[in-house]
Amino acid sequence: MLAVANLRVGVGDGPAIVDGVDLALNSGRILCLVGESGSGKSLTALSLMRLLSPAMRLAADRFVLDGEDLAQASEKRLNAIRGNRMAMVFQEPMTALNPVMTVGDQITETLRVHQGLRQEAAREVALAMFRQVQIPAPEARLRAYPHQLSGGMRQRVMIAMALICKPAILIADEPTTALDVTIQSQILRLIDDLRAQLGTAVLFITHNLAVVAEIADEVAVMYAGRIVERASRTALFGDPMHPYTLALFAAMPRADERGRPLATIEGQVPAPGAMPKGCRFAPRCPFAAARCREDYPPLREIAPAHWVSCWRAPLEEHLS
Ligand SMILES: Nc1ncnc2c1ncn2[C@@H]1O[C@H](COP(=O)(O)OP(=O)(O)OP(=O)(O)O)[C@@H](O)[C@H]1O
Ligand SMILES: [Mg+2]
Repeated sequence: MLAVANLRVGVGDGPAIVDGVDLALNSGRILCLVGESGSGKSLTALSLMRLLSPAMRLAADRFVLDGEDLAQASEKRLNAIRGNRMAMVFQEPMTALNPVMTVGDQITETLRVHQGLRQEAAREVALAMFRQVQIPAPEARLRAYPHQLSGGMRQRVMIAMALICKPAILIADEPTTALDVTIQSQILRLIDDLRAQLGTAVLFITHNLAVVAEIADEVAVMYAGRIVERASRTALFGDPMHPYTLALFAAMPRADERGRPLATIEGQVPAPGAMPKGCRFAPRCPFAAARCREDYPPLREIAPAHWVSCWRAPLEEHLS
């Protein structure tokens, strides 16, 4: 439904922060995008919505929504698409909510503009949605301004606003981080229902691999502005191939290890503009060889529909 090829994002004429990402969102499928902080996940999401700030530069070889080339689309056309066919749950709800409007007015306005509902009908739909995302005392909450709500409540309002127009494409950036586990699984179920009932295509960004294991159809692993591994959920969890993916799994807390400090990956994501010449993970990679420091490994299909950007994959050959 939505496809981008060779997506590049930078600030002004600075180095690319997102550097050659290919993504395709398909109807009824949930693609999870994972990767550590600063790898470019949110910039990728904002690019897909075409919501980057004017100081940012966006380029892509292909940017197509349902056969329509959006590369040169006008702001007017993009506005019609956003909030109707495409919706986003932002990582920072405060930046996306209007501080001088009650959340009720914001959500009913969306319904009136995009679905032509009258005020009273819109209010009923909004109330029902608030109940679905487990907002207690929904009537009172509709009258609240964003600053009067807790972080978790604002996140639920954002989710309600994104889901209420039943978008064909949903981009959710860390939508459940501020929520406790019970509400989190309720929200995951809502998103899954949307996918199943309406065929919504979902891009779900998270650093929580337990969430990925629960909802993903496909997974893309991002490192330093590039996708380093892409596979179905089963293939990625059953047979992770990129050393960075392996490190992410090793850093994942396990139920039997509660209370032990979380394993971390040594070193840091290189800064844009200071990228190593070869593989960007090579300086942190226990498997790195001479070639890895020289040439960037392109994504290769190492098993059917399992793509890895690593000269050393499959790694078994190097393990004794
Ligand atoms: N508006 C901006 N101007 C300049 N640099 C930016 C801007 N937005 C993001 N960056 C930089 O781009 C890089 C990627 O940022 P991004 O927010 O996409 O990371 P992320 O993967 O979403 O991280 P997190 O998991 O912490 O949300 C970071 O180094 C960040 O500092
Ligand atoms: Mg982010």
